[in-house]
Amino acid sequence: MTDSTSHTTEQPTAPVVAHTRTELRAARAALTSRDVAVVMTMGALHDGHAQLVKRARAEHDHVIVTIFLNPLQFGPKEDLSRYPRTFDADMEICTSAGVDVVFAPTPDVVYPDGDPGVRISAGPLGTVLEGQSRPGHFDGMLTVVAKLLHLTGARTAYFGQKDAQQLLLIRRMVRDLDFPVEVVAVPTVREDDGLAMSSRNTYLTESDREVALCLSRALRAGGDAAAYGPSSIRRAAREVLVEEPLALVDYLVLVHPTTLADVPEWYRGEALLAVAARVGTTRLIDNTPVLVGPGGGMLDVFTPEATSLSAHP
Ligand code: PAJ
Repeated sequence: MTDSTSHTTEQPTAPVVAHTRTELRAARAALTSRDVAVVMTMGALHDGHAQLVKRARAEHDHVIVTIFLNPLQFGPKEDLSRYPRTFDADMEICTSAGVDVVFAPTPDVVYPDGDPGVRISAGPLGTVLEGQSRPGHFDGMLTVVAKLLHLTGARTAYFGQKDAQQLLLIRRMVRDLDFPVEVVAVPTVREDDGLAMSSRNTYLTESDREVALCLSRALRAGGDAAAYGPSSIRRAAREVLVEEPLALVDYLVLVHPTTLADVPEWYRGEALLAVAARVGTTRLIDNTPVLVGPGGGMLDVFTPEATSLSAHP
């Protein structure tokens, strides 16, 4: 046989696409097991998202991916209108990753009465770091995450360490409001040169992209100094950032994983080293969990003990 089309390489089946609540209910009812995990996204999928899906796929019978550009978490001067929309490419990624259902609603499906009057409040942890420059962002994020957890009925939800404060606030919401959901953290996926993958990286010009590398370099320098304590970590990271005046640093902090309070000089244990900076027209964030103290260094994700919410510095 010479006809190449006769080769029986198995094509992955495309996910069922649901745009409405009714379609989502029908798609869920057709799943053969109740062991369903969800990966929530705003689309413009990249390898970081794909890694979340792979973990979910490996650990559960079914995976639902949500693709929803949530207007509620964007401020009036933010990038909602220019945020990349790449639905066809997103579907290809979901297909090859073996996703069962893609829920891709429009804002009027998620918010049929317009902006909801009742919302989730992120509380004090939603007003620091990212919350300081993005007022209301975390309330809008938590409100949609709560809705998508209810609508998908997933028992496990996968989120990226890349958005450390988001992950912490989702854990808090789940615990404070008794959501019957397990939250799983997935390590940050990076380009070969260290840049954390982000849908917003498409905004970067070639020269911006070079400048942007100082964020991950600073985190690495901080991680390398982890054995010597908090001030050494902060100093090592800051030294990298000051070398790059084109990165306009919003914050560089070393904070406790659950309180986001600056860790004191005597602190030993796990901490979050996080940075935000504007490069060109783009606001970038990056972070790494670090173990502070002898034998310390960068970690992929926090240990369960470090993010257990009763811990205090
Ligand atoms: P989005 O930015 O699309 O990210 C979706 C998920 O992918 C989040 O859990 C995020 O932390 C994770 N992610 C993004 N880049 C990553 C990377 N480089 N490595 C690992 N994980 C990465 O975060 C949101 O959307 C929204 O706020 C959402 C939770 C969907 C609510 O609207």
